[in-house]
Amino acid sequence: MPDESQLTFSTEQILANVPTREPLVVKGVKCHGGFDADGNYRSPRTQFRVPAIKAWQAQHVATSGTALFEIPADTISPQVPNPAQAKFLLRSGVREPMVRWLSEIAIVEGFGAMIRELPVPPLSTFIREDTAGTALAHLTGGLFEAHARDEAGWSEEGGHRQMWDAARDAALSNPVISPEIYTNLIARRGAGQPSALFPELGEPVERLIRFMVNVLAIEVFAASTFAWAEEVLSDPEVSDAPDDAANLVRYIRSDESPHVEYLRTALSEIQARTLLTLDAKPVSGGKVVEDLAARGIRAMLRQRLNERPVMVRDLIRKTANVKDIDELMRQFDALATPWTPPARYRDLAPERGAVPVGY
Ligand SMILES: [Fe+2]
Ligand SMILES: [Fe+2]
Repeated sequence: MPDESQLTFSTEQILANVPTREPLVVKGVKCHGGFDADGNYRSPRTQFRVPAIKAWQAQHVATSGTALFEIPADTISPQVPNPAQAKFLLRSGVREPMVRWLSEIAIVEGFGAMIRELPVPPLSTFIREDTAGTALAHLTGGLFEAHARDEAGWSEEGGHRQMWDAARDAALSNPVISPEIYTNLIARRGAGQPSALFPELGEPVERLIRFMVNVLAIEVFAASTFAWAEEVLSDPEVSDAPDDAANLVRYIRSDESPHVEYLRTALSEIQARTLLTLDAKPVSGGKVVEDLAARGIRAMLRQRLNERPVMVRDLIRKTANVKDIDELMRQFDALATPWTPPARYRDLAPERGAVPVGY
């Protein structure tokens, strides 16, 4: 284990596993993580990664005197449908929507592999101050790679992509999975680059920061989605494997914490520094992170508040095989959780600022 003053780690260290006694095996597939001598689940690649992130966070707070960046808690809208609505559908024999929602979570987790492809320009070309011994300096030194492996699996080892599929198959007794779930999701992701907010920084720098902010937003919003899934899948009244399926979701949730923490650390480190434009003029890192975050949160809220409820209701109407669909929808709607975004996020008019499709 590293001591608290260690701030520089090799890629091998960032990717190193805590020793475990037993692997996590799901439906014959060895997954990441494992169980220690006390039978507790230990997340993958956390032996050095977790203490490293803690050390970088402590250093950031001590040297900058500022708190760590976060996606404000009051912007996190409740999951649609909520647990009561999802359970109501399952109790009513309407299972296809839940099959799709869990499949979509698995697919989006798999997209996490893309983070390893994100180009990181040399830090000294766009950050004025030193970055030695920071999370930023380790993005390409294991942090992005560990994140990609956690989400999408690595080599023969399953990751969240496979674990969500397994949770779905256990809880809903191996449902038939339509290939159209994948193609629909890809189609919804849309194409095209969002317009630049800071063209003077150059596209690669803005893309890097935008990507990190958007992935952090997805991770933070996903926490409410995953809590929702755990609540539904652990209920023996509606889940065919309340222990196994809910445990898998619990393991996944514990693996997510390092993702949130390293991203907010790296973004905090940018916030506390001065960025350099293409012609070497200074720009406040704080402003860049804040503006890109506000746009990402707005896009996330637009998707969760405007687009998702419509899609959810359409999907139920399309797939429910019940006598009185209007009555089903009436009862479903009556269980909804009313929620209004904070005043500063009330205007959700469409704008060009794509965020990856989240949850
Ligand atoms: Fe994940
Ligand atoms: Fe994650």
